[in-house]
Parts: sequence; C-alpha cells; structure tokens
Amino acid sequence: GWTSSSVIDETVALIREQVGSERVICALSGGVDSAVAALLIHRAIGDQLICVFVDTGCMRAGEREQVVDTFASHFHIPLVVVDARQRFLSRLANVVDPEQKRKIIGEEFIRVFEQEASKLEEEHGPIPFLAQGTLYPDVIESTSHDTASTARRIKTHHNVGGLPEEMVFKLVEPLRTLFKDEVREVGLVLGLPEEWVWRHPFPGPGLAIRIIGAVDEGKLETLRAADKIVVEEIRNAGVYRELGQAFAVLTPLQSVGVMGDFRTYANVLAVRAVTTGDFMTADWARLSPNLLARISNRVVNEVPGVNRVVYDITSKPPATIEWE
Ligand code: XMP
Repeated sequence: GWTSSSVIDETVALIREQVGSERVICALSGGVDSAVAALLIHRAIGDQLICVFVDTGCMRAGEREQVVDTFASHFHIPLVVVDARQRFLSRLANVVDPEQKRKIIGEEFIRVFEQEASKLEEEHGPIPFLAQGTLYPDVIESTSHDTASTARRIKTHHNVGGLPEEMVFKLVEPLRTLFKDEVREVGLVLGLPEEWVWRHPFPGPGLAIRIIGAVDEGKLETLRAADKIVVEEIRNAGVYRELGQAFAVLTPLQSVGVMGDFRTYANVLAVRAVTTGDFMTADWARLSPNLLARISNRVVNEVPGVNRVVYDITSKPPATIEWE
C-alpha cells in the first residue's frame, strides 16, 4: 500500500541513482510542488542542490520572506534570491493584454533563471540537472498551464533573448508518480509547514494578471495589501482549506465614495473565492455575509486607493477563475 515514508525512501534512492555526485538547480515558486520536490532532492543529495527564487515583483505580500525563512533559515538549503523586480516591471510597463503579460513574464523568467544558472556554474562548476515539480496528472495531461509546465519551458525555450550559450538540462522529476494529495502528504512528513502544504495554487504570472490593465508598482502595492486582508480574513474564519482559490483583483474602474467629510474617487476591488475539484470547473464560494463584511470594511479602511469592494458571484464556466 501507499505510505508516504516508503514513497520518500524510494524516491530518494532514485534521485541518488540518477544524479550521483552532480549538481541540481531548482526554481522555487512559493508553491507546494516545487517545495516538496526541493525537499526530496535535498534529502537525497544534500548541498548538491541549489535553489533559486526569482522575485518578479508580482508576488504576494511576504512570499519572498517565507521562501527565505523556510528554505534557507529552517531547512538550511542553499538558496539564491534574485531580485528581478525592476526588470519585470519595466518590461510590463503599459502592457494591457493579458496574454502579452503572460508571454513577457514567462520569457523574462527564463532569461533571469538562465543568467543565474550560468553565474552559478561559473562559481561552482557544471549544473547538469534541473528539478521540476511535475506531478503524475501533468505527465498524462502535458497541456496543463500550471507552474510545472511553466518551468518545463526553461528546457525548450533556451534561445529566448539570444543568450550566448544554450542551456539544456537533464530533468529530475521526483513527483512524477504522485497525485497532489500524495505530494501534500509527503510535504507534511518532510516537515514543510502546514500553511505551505495547503496553500492555494498561484499563477506563474502572479499579481500581474490580477491587475486589470497596465501594471505598475503602485497598483501592485495596492493589490498586495488588499489580497493579504482577503486571505487573512478567510483564514481567520476557518474556511481557507474548503476553498480552491481565494484572492483579490484590482479593477481599473473608479467610483465615487465618501469618507468622513470627503468625497473619494478610487478603484473598485473585486474579491474572488471558488470551490473546485480540478480547476476546470468551479463554483463561486458561498462565503458568509459577515466574512464578506469584514473583508470589505478592512480593505476600504486600510488600503489607500480602494473605496469599494465587490464579490464575484460567477461560476466557471462561463467565467474563468482568474479575471485575465
Ligand atoms: P482559469 O482562470 O483559466 O484558471 O479558470 C484555472 C487555473 O489556472 C491558473 N492559471 C494559471 N496558472 N499560469 C499559471 O501558472 C497562468 O498563466 C495561469 N492562468 C490561470 C488559475 O490560477 C487557476 O488555478
């Protein structure tokens, strides 16, 4: 039968056999899959693993700090944080089209990652292996657009940006035989914090596709503050785990409000929360009116630039989960 400790032992043995004494590089996204993949590989080959976290500037509040605290401070795994916020932000300037945003972020991610990998090779010698958090369902359905398939492009798009040398990695995919619930179980056994293990999925392009219209630093700051409140209140109400995803969307729509003696004219924030099995279909979550009231009050009072909160009551289909 399936037990997480036998899966861990078998996977660790397979990784050792595949990698030997060579180096592995792993891009941490902040999500469950890359984290569990990294922990398994680290258990197998220790400091032959180097993790890289690319800060795109489109991450949620505290995300970078959590990766550093957990991986570097707690697990003592070699971790390089690349602050690429300005690069991403300047490429995203004035870009409105969602698919264009995705393309830019995907390409820039690969460039930044490859540059970092080259630097690390100069420092430490060859890094022949790239870790990927590919799950069993991705192996069968290789068209899914989650973070695993984003990472997979690193191998195939190695000429993006006319980089001098092409990087072709051999893949290490320790989660290839596992389903999501098994990955979570393995994560828990390996000591990944519960909060991380149960984290909702977060799209690779991040907050950039949750700001409708052009992305800039001010809007990112606004959305980050609002999203933090949404997630905090949902956690405090004890319903986070029942939801498939819950987040804030910053709309470009401005509306009139009143605060004290003043008339305000500021943005509308949308709250999205869904229940779902497979993310192909989803139902809008029946969050309690009191929870919605707490979210709304806090956002309007605490987040400058937002004076109205609306709740998205559309299911998928016909709507998608994300707004872009
Ligand atoms: P939609 O909006 O299509 O989302 O209902 C379904 C699931 O996919 C995620 N999603 C993405 N994930 N890169 C990703 O890594 C993307 O560009 C992307 N777009 C949507 C979304 O968050 C949801 O979980």
